Amino acid sequence: MIYVILGTQWGDEGKAKVIDYFAKDFDYVARFQGGANAGHTVYVDKKKFVFHLVPSGILNPNVTVIIGNGVVIDLEEFLKELEAVGCEVDARGRVFLSSRAHVVMPYHKLLDRAKESRVGQAIGTTGRGIGPAYVDKADRTGIRVCDLVYLSREQLTKKVEAAYELKQYLLKNYYGMSEIPTAEAIVDQLCGLADRIRPFVADTERILQEAHKNRRNILFEGAQGSLLDVDFGTYPYVTSSSTISGGSLTGSGVGAIDTASVIGITKAYCTRVGNGPFPTEQENETGEFLRKQGNEFGATTGRKRRCGWFDLVATRYSIGVNGVTEIFLTKLDVLDGMETIRVCKNYRIRGKETDYLPSVIEDYEDIEPVYHEMPGWKEKTFGIRNFHLLPANARKYVEYLELQLGRKISYISTGFEREDVIVR
Ligand code: IMP
Repeated sequence: MIYVILGTQWGDEGKAKVIDYFAKDFDYVARFQGGANAGHTVYVDKKKFVFHLVPSGILNPNVTVIIGNGVVIDLEEFLKELEAVGCEVDARGRVFLSSRAHVVMPYHKLLDRAKESRVGQAIGTTGRGIGPAYVDKADRTGIRVCDLVYLSREQLTKKVEAAYELKQYLLKNYYGMSEIPTAEAIVDQLCGLADRIRPFVADTERILQEAHKNRRNILFEGAQGSLLDVDFGTYPYVTSSSTISGGSLTGSGVGAIDTASVIGITKAYCTRVGNGPFPTEQENETGEFLRKQGNEFGATTGRKRRCGWFDLVATRYSIGVNGVTEIFLTKLDVLDGMETIRVCKNYRIRGKETDYLPSVIEDYEDIEPVYHEMPGWKEKTFGIRNFHLLPANARKYVEYLELQLGRKISYISTGFEREDVIVR
């Protein structure tokens, strides 16, 4: 059994809860892209856990956790998260970090934040150095986990100096920073972490290939969302990794798999954090209602999430680029108490109706969503675990989305707890 579980919107679809829900049935949970920009919140027995880098599957003691080659690693964050779960579960021997993963260096974070503060250059990133780390990966000047644990200090210093030279120039002369760390200080910091990282480092692609060969169950945990994908997202307002299902292969090294189930996690409304187009955004009382009811504040940066209506155009597009096989609908309970619910069916762009997401970013300014309106429900759906116990209008809403998306909504989440799920 191979599952790829990912978000079909702009992230924050509630992936962590879903992954935690499924993790008990899997032997391996692997992350394949992104870094500490992700924020996965899980509640178990009313206790809150927030993960940025380590797969949330770690909370299940029978699961082996893999951080694949496609991830960019903030080493301090990685160690901090292992420590945080240390008293709950034992991470030793069941957490593996790819030797081929790239390291987020201190200068990546400086460059990320410097670029964001430059007028006209802001994407609204998380400031975690993600973009610059992937730039170096593509530019072939990245420092990888294997460099850190297998090279001598002298060899590592040479690499860091070569990678840092131009960036030092940029940080000082272009961004006007007066205090930046020396290459030596950076190497000192890395070497200080190397021994703590070493026990976790492995050729993780081999572990996963072997697991696949032995028919073990593997769950690929996506971070961010499909509309933030570097190829298929609302470019340039995207993250720098491949967040779609294809990324699970290149970011883990398991080879092409044609038997995977791709579970598209889809929130019952839409949110976006950071800049960029959001056609169904509601900067009004509706948006406030959703933010408050849904507690829509970023798990990584604490920023207010932008909120709006469900977008069928965007979700159908995500289903296509991911090959989504079934849908896990989350946060249905957040809509409890709404008088009327709207769903965007199509976009009207300069008078012309379309059912497809535009590639040209400038077109988004001219999008007028075409809405379908449905009556809401007054009753609470919070914590309901049986579809037939949902209010009739909530059932109609789910069935409408299902029909329009052309995929079965197999699961519906109605609360924080692991077991607050309707299975259909
Ligand atoms: P970066 O990934 O920090 O470079 O940020 C690029 C864009 O992706 C920004 O709009 C961020 O707000 C967004 N982003 C990154 N990670 C997440 C996430 O986990 N959830 C939602 N949005 C995210």
